[in-house]
Amino acid sequence: EVVEGGGNILLPGFVDLHTHLREPGREDTETVESGSRAAARGGYTAVFAMANTAPVADNATITDHVWRLGREVGLVDVHPVGAVTVGLAGEQLAEMGMMADGAAKVKLFSDDGKCVHDPVIMKRALEYSKGLGVLISQHSEDPRLTVGSVAHDGPTAARLGLAGWPRAAEESIVARDALLARDAGARVHIAHASTAGTVELLRWARTQGIEVTAEVTPHHLLLDDSRLETYDGVNRVNPPLREESDKLALRAALAEGVIDCVATDHAPHASQEKCCEFSQARPGMLGLETALSIVVETMVNADLLDWRGVARVMSERPAQIVGLDDQGRPIEVGEPANLTIVDPEQAWTVKGEELASRSDNTPYDSMTLPGTVLTTLLRGRVTAQRDGLSNVTPNGGAGEWL
Ligand code: NCD
Ligand code: ZN
Ligand code: ZN
Repeated sequence: EVVEGGGNILLPGFVDLHTHLREPGREDTETVESGSRAAARGGYTAVFAMANTAPVADNATITDHVWRLGREVGLVDVHPVGAVTVGLAGEQLAEMGMMADGAAKVKLFSDDGKCVHDPVIMKRALEYSKGLGVLISQHSEDPRLTVGSVAHDGPTAARLGLAGWPRAAEESIVARDALLARDAGARVHIAHASTAGTVELLRWARTQGIEVTAEVTPHHLLLDDSRLETYDGVNRVNPPLREESDKLALRAALAEGVIDCVATDHAPHASQEKCCEFSQARPGMLGLETALSIVVETMVNADLLDWRGVARVMSERPAQIVGLDDQGRPIEVGEPANLTIVDPEQAWTVKGEELASRSDNTPYDSMTLPGTVLTTLLRGRVTAQRDGLSNVTPNGGAGEWL
């Protein structure tokens, strides 16, 4: 699956289990089309579009609509995620079976349309999801443990006056959902693991034979709460940027396989919602176009993962978790392939306004990151390509997108 030759690396196309595409409802910040282009440029051949759209994707009409939009664009396989509840307070289970049976064949369900704070509802949702797919525990935080509206914890956050969302809010829900999955005999996938304690809980759940999987975001691998000093809204995200010790624990857990995969949590917002004082900003960061480079920076260049490992965390494991049988696999002779070609030696400088995403605010703006996606192929067809195979421009930057 990993072919090293000519200085470039050939990988199976990446699979993102956690992408916010904002259609329907906030097409000013991202559409299926702009998000698909961002995904292709990031080396992705499949993305799972989260359910917290407006309206929420809690029925087959909406999940099939998003699936059809993805097909029309044709740059990446867009798999809609279905919300597990309907109703304003999320008090009633959604028709998950209808979403699974629809054109979109929904395989991943989440609690992010309306937060599921009631453990009884969560347990019933887990029971219902059995045989249909995987439930992603997206709101891995208990809001009743929060103080104020800003999601941070630790000495830096306290000094900056950003206290609010303690580790216990995340870890208690991770523990709860692992135990409920055990009792329901269901599978649960933990979204955006962000603390060292969550890593220990995942390790414990595995020893109990609980079918729990987990993802980490690129931003939690690269950034920590030292970024918060500027009170810049661009750094606001849920779960929050944690301490350096958490960041290092997450990297080690990804290397070891305790955390299964990288998922972007690509969460575009309009500039007026992000380029403001921290407490006013919406939580969420762009992720699709920078994910591979951040994995190279934090994992490959740190000798925590080799390229075989990159294929595992970016493609194979996420495809296995949701049972995508046409992604994340070795290439079969005679079969149209989903592939990503990466130049590991080529660095590039992130410029928000040059990203394909409809939103352009990013914490990585002006950062030079290692590793460049040169070409992405979806079933043998080029969906993104950088200019020139040597890929070097006079200013030393990566080539333009064609
Ligand atoms: C996400 C969003 O903007 O939709 N924001 C975020 O900070 N991650 C929602 C989420 O994943 O919790
Ligand atoms: Zn979330
Ligand atoms: Zn999210």
